Amino acid sequence: MANAAKPDLRPADPRFSSGPCAKRPGWTLSALSDAPLGRSHRAKLGKSKLAQAIEDTREILQVPADYRIGIVPASDTGAVEMAMWSLLGARPVDMVAWESFGSGWVTDAVKQLKLENARVLEAGYGEIVDFADVNFDHDVVFTWNGTTSGVRVPNGDAIPADRQGLTICDATSAAFAQDLPYDKLDVVTFSWQKVMGGEAAHGMLILSPRAVERLLTYKPAWPLPKIFRLTSGGKLIEGIFKGETINTPSMLCVEDYLDALNWGKRIGGLEALKARADANLAVIERFVDENSWIGFLAKDPATRSNTSVCLQFTDPALVNLPREAQDAFAKGVATLLEKEGVALDIGSYRDAPPGLRIWCGATVETAAVEALMPWISYAYQAQKAALAQAA
Ligand SMILES: Cc1ncc(COP(=O)(O)O)c(C=O)c1O
Repeated sequence: MANAAKPDLRPADPRFSSGPCAKRPGWTLSALSDAPLGRSHRAKLGKSKLAQAIEDTREILQVPADYRIGIVPASDTGAVEMAMWSLLGARPVDMVAWESFGSGWVTDAVKQLKLENARVLEAGYGEIVDFADVNFDHDVVFTWNGTTSGVRVPNGDAIPADRQGLTICDATSAAFAQDLPYDKLDVVTFSWQKVMGGEAAHGMLILSPRAVERLLTYKPAWPLPKIFRLTSGGKLIEGIFKGETINTPSMLCVEDYLDALNWGKRIGGLEALKARADANLAVIERFVDENSWIGFLAKDPATRSNTSVCLQFTDPALVNLPREAQDAFAKGVATLLEKEGVALDIGSYRDAPPGLRIWCGATVETAAVEALMPWISYAYQAQKAALAQAA
């Protein structure tokens, strides 16, 4: 195969990492100049910034007024595990997973909490568990957007409004890019460094009234460390949901999150944020349609993520190679793109099938995704040529 020519145009920003994700367009360090550094987060100013972050989150994400929103320690993992450790054990639980992060929550339930009534429903990379098989009278833990496979829940239709169990949803790579049906979700978690391109530090924990009710009426059999405790003396610690964090937050990260939220509001809120991710996915969909050697890892188009877009090389000459050779090929493509400075961190996740993962969340400019596509063709052809030469 003849060596392809390098495309002329380069993406203006090569950051397509799935987390931390690209900062919002136009971001500079000066966006943080109002951060109340060296001051107590419990001073009036700090507390008002934290409360503002909660308020803006509610406004943009359109979280119902009777749902609580808290800023908690340890990023998305902190928020998910806080919910699992605080709420699970009251009734049987269905643990639903189809990629690496969901599987991590399965491990938590089965091997760490050692829940006796845990049912595990799993699907492989590219697929999704059939939600018709889930028992929503059990508690249910699942990930809305599987970041490592690019497979998302298409909608909440399969979740009954009159369910008995709680739905605990890790929505870290979905929030701000996909619709989340809050009436079907009792716990929603995410972090700041995904779709909004914030700094990694804290987790967001959104609780439905039913989740709060569980907190008030159920005491887990296991001890809870201070950073997981949402109640005290049988009462909800309401302060957590007003910006009185359990322990010390980074006010620099808070300032950055506020900046990201302000940007989100300026461009038109949730609809505009979702539209940006959708437009980015549409560019890749067109590219995949035009090139038979590449395809989506997500088997069902309805489950295709518009944030963590996962691709596989479907070239028959490659799919029949041993797994290590396929890994090496995909890595070679990602490395070449990185070396050219056109795409950073787009190799597939370490546990996922070999391929590429291109973040398409709201902070990524559609023009950058457009400029990247010819480079993927270029790198694919360069790797094929290298393979042919080695044979
Ligand atoms: C679906 C999902 N869950 C959990 C995590 C872990 O998030 P964090 O590092 O914010 O704790 C990630 C990180 O990419 C993720 O994509």
